[in-house]
Amino acid sequence: MRAKDIRERKERDDPVTMLTAYDAPTAEIVDSVGVDMVLVGDSIGNLRLGYESTLPVTLEQIESATAAVARAVDDAMVIADMPFLSFGADEDEAVENCGRMLKDADADAVKLESGPHTVDLTRRLTQIGVPVQAHLGLTPQHENEIGLFRQGTDQSAAREMIDLAHKHERAGAFSLVLEHIPANVAAQVTEAIDIPTIGIGAGPNCDGQVLTVDEVIGLTESVAPFSKAFGDVRGEMTDAIEGYVEAVESGEFPAEDHSHHEDGVDDIY
Ligand code: KIV
Ligand code: NA
Repeated sequence: MRAKDIRERKERDDPVTMLTAYDAPTAEIVDSVGVDMVLVGDSIGNLRLGYESTLPVTLEQIESATAAVARAVDDAMVIADMPFLSFGADEDEAVENCGRMLKDADADAVKLESGPHTVDLTRRLTQIGVPVQAHLGLTPQHENEIGLFRQGTDQSAAREMIDLAHKHERAGAFSLVLEHIPANVAAQVTEAIDIPTIGIGAGPNCDGQVLTVDEVIGLTESVAPFSKAFGDVRGEMTDAIEGYVEAVESGEFPAEDHSHHEDGVDDIY
């Protein structure tokens, strides 16, 4: 799946599906089901690495997870989510860091939490051949400014969002994630631009949807109000692990079936 294929989906009015993945086995399942884009999100920080936010996530952590995901994916587009401070300070360094995700980790594209400061970077990356997915609305890397779910959208923020959406489209972004914004604003942004919008907590009128895979499968206990668990993997894991502990404690496991014998290895006593 390439940037061009994703762009064309909007013309055909064909909804785009996107999910996160952080490891090879999960990515393999996500890809085999036919999800269009697999995002190696910096949400790995909260969901898999035990941090309270995405800010401590390093480029090396995203690179290693992206490489694992890319090894497991055949069809979907693999997108590396650029972590806090891997872009935004120095443009040359940002270009190097983004390029590394394609060159060394085999990503197909990068995602940048976007703002006025990412327009030129998006243009430069696209010109070089690094497809960029933009991200507006709630941008968790800014949580220290205002608090995570307090990033509200007032009328002027909505206007600025449409302006930034246009600017990133013109700079070459191939799609735009809209996180936690009013549904009517998301619908207007979607109407205003020709690249697909991918919503999360942004209502039903986007061109596609994204969620974290840990919420979808029910692995994490903390599911955001706009998200939805479609399974109970946490329950299944708990049952399996409890079953193992009980079987070991009761002496039921390992049974003869799970034991190993070799001819010629005789008892010593
Ligand atoms: O890191 C992440 O998982 C994300 C998506 C929720 C868009 O940025
Ligand atoms: Na992210």
